[in-house]
Amino acid sequence: MPSSPDTLLSDLHTSLEALQRTLSADLTLVRDGDALEALRVAYLGRSGRLTTIRRGIGSLPVAERPEAGRQINEAAARIESSFAEHATRLSRAALDAESAARVDVTGTVPWPRRGALHPLRQTIEAIVEPFQRRGFAVVLGTEIEEERTNFDALNIGPDHPAREGLDSFYLAPGTLLRTHTSPMQIRMMERHPAPVALLVPGAVYRRDAVDARHSPMFHQVEGLCVGEHVHFGHLREALLALCRHLFGAAQHVRLRPSFFPFTEPSAEVDTSCPGCDGSGCRTCGGSGWIEIGGAGMVHPQVLRNVGYDPERLTGWAFGVGVERIAMVRYGIDDIRTFFENDRSLLEQLG
Ligand code: DAH
Repeated sequence: MPSSPDTLLSDLHTSLEALQRTLSADLTLVRDGDALEALRVAYLGRSGRLTTIRRGIGSLPVAERPEAGRQINEAAARIESSFAEHATRLSRAALDAESAARVDVTGTVPWPRRGALHPLRQTIEAIVEPFQRRGFAVVLGTEIEEERTNFDALNIGPDHPAREGLDSFYLAPGTLLRTHTSPMQIRMMERHPAPVALLVPGAVYRRDAVDARHSPMFHQVEGLCVGEHVHFGHLREALLALCRHLFGAAQHVRLRPSFFPFTEPSAEVDTSCPGCDGSGCRTCGGSGWIEIGGAGMVHPQVLRNVGYDPERLTGWAFGVGVERIAMVRYGIDDIRTFFENDRSLLEQLG
């Protein structure tokens, strides 16, 4: 006996519900995208279960087919959304698993490392500090300089050996990386009427081969004080105060006659060796003294060059080597140490 249309439709309804139930059960076993895809093919693929049911429509009486099609489409939509929900569930679970593997919530957290200033920066600050307290300005200047300010206005004539390309980094004719911080003396005096009192910390560049004592880039701090009645005794006091601030109250300063084109008289500045208090050790090469820079009274020609009146104004200037001072402060005997970025060492000095 042929089944009545109602029976056929209710059979269809039953098998669609059964299909949805088995799908739910199947999905609980699916743990990854590949398995999910395989299951999708098994249900919705060309010879999948739903597709097979859909093909059965052809055997239904014509009048029943539209209702059967509607039910099957509804079931297909439900099945699709079950797959979509499960896909979302899987990717959320994957993310959870990944972060659980990465973040150990039971672990102890190390306290973040604290940064510290580089030993050269600390040394610059130590050099500048006693002057800043006395009202000196701190200016930086530019590392690219002109021959005029780096040499000419400082009374360093065209034939001076320092001007040779062999010693300086020229960027273009007349333009070079500053070979010392002294050009800022010129720039500041040109811009400001006396009195001036300033310090210039910064990098300078020379064509030196790298070894334990030389680096093509190093740092200086320039000092300048120009006004009425400024004399050599003031310079000596300033340098003594600097060395005592850097190395301790027992320091002595020695000024050895020397020559710089921009000062007259000129001196080489030595501080008593803090390593041995002047009795002689490895740090000072047995002499008891450590040279830290040059100094002198600003040459009248330099004052004239910036438009100052040398009859009325006098001034002192100095230039000290930051690496040199830092090496003594930290007991380091190789300048390269400062530029190698060896973190454990920098941390120790910080
Ligand atoms: N500019 C000199 C150099 O680099 C150092 C120097 C010497 C600076 C004497 C000065 C000074 O201001 O008075 O070798």
